[in-house]
Amino acid sequence: MTQTTLPRLLQDNGASAKARSVDCVIIGAGAAGLYAAHYAGGQGASVLVLDHRRKPAEKVRISGGGRCNFTNLHTHPKCFISDNPHFAKSALARHGPWDFIDYVTQAGISYHEKTLGQLFCDESSQQIIDMLLDLANRSGAQIALETQVKKVSHDGGRFQLELEHQGQAFALSCQSLVIASGGLSIPKIGATNFGYQLAQQFGHQVVPPRPGLVPFTFDDQLLTRCRPLAGTAVQAQIKAGNARFDEAALFTHRGLSGPAALQASSYWLPGDTIDVDLARGTNVGAQLLDDKQSRPKRLVRSSLEQLLPNRLAESLCEELGLNTRLADTGDKALRKLAARVNRWQLVPTGTEGYRTAEVTLGGVCTSQLSSKSMESQQVPGLYFIGEVVDVTGWLGGYNFQWAWSSAWAAGTAIAKRGANTA
Ligand code: FDA
Repeated sequence: MTQTTLPRLLQDNGASAKARSVDCVIIGAGAAGLYAAHYAGGQGASVLVLDHRRKPAEKVRISGGGRCNFTNLHTHPKCFISDNPHFAKSALARHGPWDFIDYVTQAGISYHEKTLGQLFCDESSQQIIDMLLDLANRSGAQIALETQVKKVSHDGGRFQLELEHQGQAFALSCQSLVIASGGLSIPKIGATNFGYQLAQQFGHQVVPPRPGLVPFTFDDQLLTRCRPLAGTAVQAQIKAGNARFDEAALFTHRGLSGPAALQASSYWLPGDTIDVDLARGTNVGAQLLDDKQSRPKRLVRSSLEQLLPNRLAESLCEELGLNTRLADTGDKALRKLAARVNRWQLVPTGTEGYRTAEVTLGGVCTSQLSSKSMESQQVPGLYFIGEVVDVTGWLGGYNFQWAWSSAWAAGTAIAKRGANTA
């Protein structure tokens, strides 16, 4: 069910803001916002979810190549990046992958483990969207799409919101306000800096955002050599900062992508060198020297083609001027070639940025949030969940798991708060 008309909670035209009030407003009908609505509304509280877009959960729709990698069985706090690496522990431990998988199973959605604990829908990510909308709906939550939030203030213990829907202005008050507006990645499907601005308005610090899980870009000189390799994939190890990832890497027209590069990008800072092993698990030097003994007449390129895709082997031999037979090539030159494969060091010029980044690193600083409920320590009743918070997962379902865990933490706290004040 997609709510395209104005929900009942906003329909009483002419009502004052005081009259038009709800227990909880959630800004952002994405993964975290919809899941939080299910829990916040679970004990009868009135919940309104707002989104400026025409459709909810657009990122869920495009995620996992259209099959939504909705969680990871190996979820562990070490798979998350934050200025405070301990912050995510509580929510992840209290509401983990199996809590979400239970809903997926109950909804009859079939799924499979693709690799490394990554769970994907067998059919379509739309099934996860439908499930989230159904869960929110079952808790009585209402959804207002195409609704802009013009102003938020806080007085007398309640939040006052000024909204606009199709040119019409509305005022609304609420006891709990949940910010689930996500990060800056993929602006063309609705990403905005709303959450960061609102956090700052209420005295929260924001860890400077930057794109994560994003392809690296190379300078023109490097691209002259690498562009012809676009589409070539290798089993690589890429190291950036203190992190290293053993996964596939893919040459592109702009630089380097694939899971290993995306993962490394989250640990990379502009100007840093990355270390790339283009033949992970293979000691290329030892192999070439062995071949030199056993097959001296073989071309260096043919020997390297046993270890790397042909196009890459050819390109590297050309780069180092090794269009020679093994017997005619010095050991030093073979070792240099091996180092170029196993220990390629380069400084990317940058990344493809928010246009293609899967996540936004940084965000609302966790030092002013409760790790149990995601509630602000500055303003009671204000909550931040999902990607807007300075918690960013690795590639592989971890970011959705953070959305579910943090949404559960806030949603259950709000429901409990409502029950206590009823
Ligand atoms: P999300 O971005 O989902 O939702 C925020 C909502 O707030 C949006 O609906 C937006 O329109 C709304 N909003 C923004 N500003 C607003 C404003 N000013 N007013 C009102 N509404 C506003 N993760 C994973 O674990 N597995 C995967 O397979 C993938 N795949 C993937 C592919 C691609 C291409 C991308 C870009 C990202 C992924 N991710 C992923 C990451 C994952 O999609 C992301 O971490 C979650 O969607 C974050 O959930 P949130 O609910 O926090 O934000």
